[in-house]
Amino acid sequence: MKTILVTGGAGFIGSNFVYYMLRTHPNVRIVVLDALTYAGNFQTLEPLLGQARFRFVRGDITDRAAVMRLFDEERFDAVVNFAAESHVDRSIDTPEVFLKTNVLGVQVLLDACRAHGNVRFHQVSTDEVYGDLPLDRPDLFFTEETPLRTSSPYSASKAGADLLTLAYYRTFGTPVTISRCSNNYGPYHFPEKLIPLMITNAMEGKKLPVYGEGKNVRDWLFVKDHCRAIDLILQGGRIGEVYNVGGHNERSNLEVVRAILHLLGKDDSDIIFVRDRPGHDLRYAIDPTKMRTELGWKPETTFETGLRQTVAWYREHRDWWEPVKSGAYLDYYKAHYGDA
Ligand code: NAD
Ligand code: TYD
Repeated sequence: MKTILVTGGAGFIGSNFVYYMLRTHPNVRIVVLDALTYAGNFQTLEPLLGQARFRFVRGDITDRAAVMRLFDEERFDAVVNFAAESHVDRSIDTPEVFLKTNVLGVQVLLDACRAHGNVRFHQVSTDEVYGDLPLDRPDLFFTEETPLRTSSPYSASKAGADLLTLAYYRTFGTPVTISRCSNNYGPYHFPEKLIPLMITNAMEGKKLPVYGEGKNVRDWLFVKDHCRAIDLILQGGRIGEVYNVGGHNERSNLEVVRAILHLLGKDDSDIIFVRDRPGHDLRYAIDPTKMRTELGWKPETTFETGLRQTVAWYREHRDWWEPVKSGAYLDYYKAHYGDA
């Protein structure tokens, strides 16, 4: 039995990864460490409680004593770090917590790995560390060699974590890998991000706030394909290496919003164009050649299938997202979008 620490496992991608790993690897036991910030949802993991191959620990990755205690208690074979502040708009309002969790938290985890016999560490990073690409150069893609050129406090904090992770490999020999993935979508996605926000707003009969003119392009990947990529990197990725994960699925924001409305049988009349995000990255696009040639990975879910499944999931799981969209979230929404 191998024990894997999944930090941030109550969030969107982390929880999908927990379910994916338990389903596909009968010899894997998962320990989740999650602070349950506004973005963490314990309800997502509740069905796993009491199972022998699952343990949930509420805790903060920046809490050095607690992290060291957990590493003393468990003999981890690997750590996969999803724990992060992940929303660009919030990083523009309150950068500090992004630096604390995304950089200092990673340092704590790396130190714990070092102090416990150099435990294997995988850092879940983002294509946003490469900055953006122009809209009029569809021939350009991010490779692992593309220089880091961040735009937001969020992406800057993730780039800092990547550099720290690689520094621990070079200096201390900590066995690390990094994945830099494009935008994910799928079940359990917090409804402040574009796709779940638009699906749930449309279901509630609310306006759909598109930034600027909706021309910015993102490279969308179904979350399960990302989970499989991380699994493959854990199994066969080369230590000290970075892997870009993405599926050549570029869409403008307006195209995405229209596709959602179409699936819900609605017209475009609730779309509104709102103030653009400061420093808004124009286009992300991943070149996934390294994942394909070294690890045989390619996406299995097309955007059409994935989006249909995602919309169906939000239709069937109002009990998951309705409570999430109440309370403190409403204060954030009002502060960010005004009366939209
Ligand atoms: P999320 O915001 O949905 O979840 C983050 C989780 O981390 C939450 O459960 C939260 O409670 C937990 N957390 C936050 N601060 C913590 C702390 N200090 N200690 C312990 N737990 C803490 O994020 P997500 O979308 O699932 O993203 C997961 C990771 O993947 C992030 O590192 C993000 O940068 C990266 N990523 C996300 C995307 C995407 O499209 N969502 C794409 C590429 C990479
Ligand atoms: P988001 O889901 O926040 O992911 P990221 O900024 O990390 O790529 O946003 C995806 C795109 O959608 C981005 O170009 C910003 C845009 N967007 C809107 O147009 N309206 C919104 O209300 C949100 C949240 C995002």
